Amino acid sequence: MVKPRYSRLPTRKSSSLTMVLTMLVMFTFVILTLLALGFLSIPNSSGGNLPKANDLSSIVRTTVGRSEEDEGKREQWVELLSWEPRSFIYHNFLTKEECEYLVTMAKPHMQKSTVVDSETGKSKDSRVRTSYGTFLARGRDKVIRKIEKRIADFTFLPVEHGEGLQVLHYEVGQKYEPHYDYFLDEFSTRNGGQRIATILMYLTDVEEGGETVFPAAKGNFSSVPWWNELSECGKGGLSVKPKMGDALLFWSMKPDATLDTSSLHGGCPLIKGNKWSATKWIRVNEYKV
Ligand SMILES: *[C@@H]1O[C@H](CO)[C@@H](O)[C@H](O)[C@H]1NC(C)=O
Repeated sequence: MVKPRYSRLPTRKSSSLTMVLTMLVMFTFVILTLLALGFLSIPNSSGGNLPKANDLSSIVRTTVGRSEEDEGKREQWVELLSWEPRSFIYHNFLTKEECEYLVTMAKPHMQKSTVVDSETGKSKDSRVRTSYGTFLARGRDKVIRKIEKRIADFTFLPVEHGEGLQVLHYEVGQKYEPHYDYFLDEFSTRNGGQRIATILMYLTDVEEGGETVFPAAKGNFSSVPWWNELSECGKGGLSVKPKMGDALLFWSMKPDATLDTSSLHGGCPLIKGNKWSATKWIRVNEYKV
């Protein structure tokens, strides 16, 4: 055993007792300092109740962000929606003014929405998608560039990987049947590769119906706090009720880069109100405009 150097000095009994006490006090002080600085933590009795991956009742407010600019902006926070699909709701992602701006810009150019033909990769008219829409080109003006920068910050995916912003309008009865955002044809992935994630921004509040529904989501989707407000269609899966300014981010690819079949999603028929949304699809690689 290695003896401390000072023990070689002549000592009295009382001084060794003082030393032990001093060391105890110092040890206590060090532990308290570490606790205060957060390097150590006392195990929490609730540690055994950590939320399970698919426990959707564990939805909690996780981060609160302060708005970086304009005063009077509503509170922003990110909510985990589910892990399969990986999806998040960013509350008050857009300001009311930004929502109105996108609607105003898109309105004069609305056309019957099409879907991508999985055989040819070309756009085609379809009964599965009955909304009207238009594209606002990437980086087309200051407001849109600001929104696109915010999307990149939120998703950690570069602005250059994004397609144009697609603004959609649904009238009562209009819907979009469940589908995947990823492509199954060669043609569509030539520019930018596969679609990795989608961010869907709600530009209006919707009274009834019009939910975004994930019918293949894993977990007990009736445990979402807004379950009782959902339409029949909305209750067919994990659903998000459109709220002006909110953004829904979900991933079409899993972390291992395989396609995530739980990302199947649709727009429920609108029952009451007016639904406008803006969608940004993000690719694995740079998407050339
Ligand atoms: C799902 O969640 C709801 C609401 O929290 C609960 O009443 C129901 O028992 C749960 N179902 C299952 C199968 O866990």
